[in-house]
Amino acid sequence: MAQQQARGAFIVFEGADRAGKSTQCQMLVEHLQAQGVAAELWRFPDRTTPIGKMINSYLTSQSDIDDAAVHLLFSANRWEKREELLRKLHEGTTLVVDRYAYSGVAFTAAKGLPGLDRAWCMAPDAGLPAPDAVFFLCLTVEQAAARGGYGEERYEKDEFQRKVLDQFHAMRGSSWRVVDASQSIDAIQQQLREQAAAVVARCQRGTSPVGKLWE
Ligand code: ADP
Ligand code: TYD
Ligand code: MG
Repeated sequence: MAQQQARGAFIVFEGADRAGKSTQCQMLVEHLQAQGVAAELWRFPDRTTPIGKMINSYLTSQSDIDDAAVHLLFSANRWEKREELLRKLHEGTTLVVDRYAYSGVAFTAAKGLPGLDRAWCMAPDAGLPAPDAVFFLCLTVEQAAARGGYGEERYEKDEFQRKVLDQFHAMRGSSWRVVDASQSIDAIQQQLREQAAAVVARCQRGTSPVGKLWE
């Protein structure tokens, strides 16, 4: 029988641009901390590492990088954080993560480039730690547009975002909790807190080891 070990939960937020991921992640981490749960807010891309700086320069159009190559950089940016991520979980820290490999697959696959289909996009992330839960904030492109204009970054265009959403929906799995992101910030947060509490409790019981993508 597998040894039982309490650990932190690995919770990922995904969803359309402006669905409220960053708002909800921040609120959830503060709530968990107030409840006495050791919790940290992470995000991908992590723009602070050397790889993350290359990604930032691509996203802000200061550099052009081949589509396949930049996809591998986004994945490498997750691999370079893998050891620290696992260490934190095993130390008992819950990680609330703003985007992960699902964004990686969705954004590149949405480009519809020959050779870069969903299977190709998934391959480099295979074997990374799998989240215990994915909170998918569900909002249409039209609803998101009503929240204000896009920024200047690459990918921030309606037509492309629609394709990204289609890719996300095609990836929905058993660990996904789909949340209607058109509700008020507080109503969404309330639902997320309940869901997160259950996931944190399950991981604290120590009966579920960290899984691997895409198993
Ligand atoms: P994301 O990280 O998914 O791109 P943000 O959390 O940055 O989204 O939110 C995008 C914008 O929408 C911000 O101006 C934020 O204040 C606003 N916002 C977030 N959640 C809601 C909500 N439930 N209803 C209305 N506006 C929201
Ligand atoms: P992010 O920093 O979360 O920006 P925002 O809060 O404005 O949504 O993400 C930056 C962009 O990077 C976003 O358009 C999604 C994209 N992305 C990828 O293309 N591949 C990836 O693997 C990840 C994690 C993000
Ligand atoms: Mg955000």
